[in-house]
Amino acid sequence: MHSFAPQSVCVLGSTGSIGVSTLDVLARHPDRYSVFALTARERVEDLAQQCRKYSPRYAVVLEEDRANELRHLLQGEHLPTEVLWGMDALCQVASDSRVSVVMAAIVGAAGLKPTLAAVRGGKKVLLANKESLVMAGPLFMGALAESDAQLLPIDSEHNAIFQCLPYPCKTLESAGVERILLTGSGGPFRTTPPSALDSVTPDEACAHPNWSMGRKISVDSATMMNKGLEFIEACYLFHASPADIEVVVHPQSIVHSMVQYRDGSLLAQMGNPDMRTPIAHALSFPDRIDSGVAALDLIRQGRLDFEAPDEARFPCLRLAREAMEVGGSAPTVLNAANEVAVEAFLNGQLPFTGIARLIEKVMKTSEVVELTDLNAVELADRIARERACDILEELYGVSEDQPCPQSRSM
Ligand SMILES: NC(=O)c1ccc[n+]([C@@H]2O[C@H](COP(=O)([O-])OP(=O)(O)OC[C@H]3O[C@@H](n4cnc5c(N)ncnc54)[C@H](OP(=O)(O)O)[C@@H]3O)[C@@H](O)[C@H]2O)c1
Repeated sequence: MHSFAPQSVCVLGSTGSIGVSTLDVLARHPDRYSVFALTARERVEDLAQQCRKYSPRYAVVLEEDRANELRHLLQGEHLPTEVLWGMDALCQVASDSRVSVVMAAIVGAAGLKPTLAAVRGGKKVLLANKESLVMAGPLFMGALAESDAQLLPIDSEHNAIFQCLPYPCKTLESAGVERILLTGSGGPFRTTPPSALDSVTPDEACAHPNWSMGRKISVDSATMMNKGLEFIEACYLFHASPADIEVVVHPQSIVHSMVQYRDGSLLAQMGNPDMRTPIAHALSFPDRIDSGVAALDLIRQGRLDFEAPDEARFPCLRLAREAMEVGGSAPTVLNAANEVAVEAFLNGQLPFTGIARLIEKVMKTSEVVELTDLNAVELADRIARERACDILEELYGVSEDQPCPQSRSM
């Protein structure tokens, strides 16, 4: 057992699927980690329970009303927890000098500012919020290069690639890497007849065969936009060009990704599909700690299948690759249009197949600009959301009592 003071951890998005898994791993290692801050948006009762269990120094929510609700729930409990609210408070706890590790697990564009604050604050940043890298990749990686921060990927695929590469890995070329094989399960509709996709429901789209996740990423998995976002994320994280990365469908989600080397070696990282493995890996890197995940039983597993992705069925994959090839603000536009489309689908305002249609229309009608600073990202994100709403209204109509969803912008 090690004998240092526990590392202080800030969990951004602690009430979500990744947040809860992170707290589960932290709770197994009280000698190594203490919880400094927890943050949420809507699930205030869950946050109150987490405060009772982990006694953080701060609990942060996005809106004032929710902060008052939380204060009311915790009244008289004599916890050391101060309740804060707002984007500035999220950035403040993510960059506080007392914090060593930040889990970036807010979903969507809303995660960008606090995650960037953690990078600029020189933290060990565990990146689950892929949208922040997709929408502001060059800026994000620039901030990382100028800071003392360490960025560790939490997405199981990127964590697998990270594990299959030498550390540190300056360039893929110098490491002898020929290509990266990014695996994806193909989601719940891998074999559904394309004609039936128009009528699938949000609950069907969220019923992932292998992973239990939040609703937004579950829909992204069903459209394979999740793999598209991961494709872009991998380009930035590993300094890869789009041609260096191939997507491979692997329905069992046991091989989490692979790296093909010049000498013919193919390295894979495998494990049961449980996010606590990449979370524990990144938290303790370069050590290894218990994650609570059972060992993979390959004999019981029996078989592993691989196939090429069907881009006619999953146009989002092609749209993401094209956005990365174009560069500049194109991935920002793709991400913003996708967030609006997914929320509209979850609200019943758009059919499943309308998601890709809407994104493609937004991309075709958006100007691509250089991302010089955060203002440029914010502007591209806002314009793309507005355009997505206009197109949603034009193609599908939106009623006054259910306006176009834009709530998750930066
Ligand atoms: N789940 C997975 O297995 C998985 C795997 C790889 C990568 N990821 C990535 O990890 C991130 C989180 O995914 P998830 O599945 O954990 O999502 P989730 O279950 O929906 O949780 C999202 C978290 O972010 C908070 N949040 C939502 N909107 C916010 C806003 N506008 N401002 C501040 N906080 C906000 C939520 O708070 P409330 O719930 O209280 O509203 C919740 O704590 C996503 O970027 C996803 O792509 C997830």
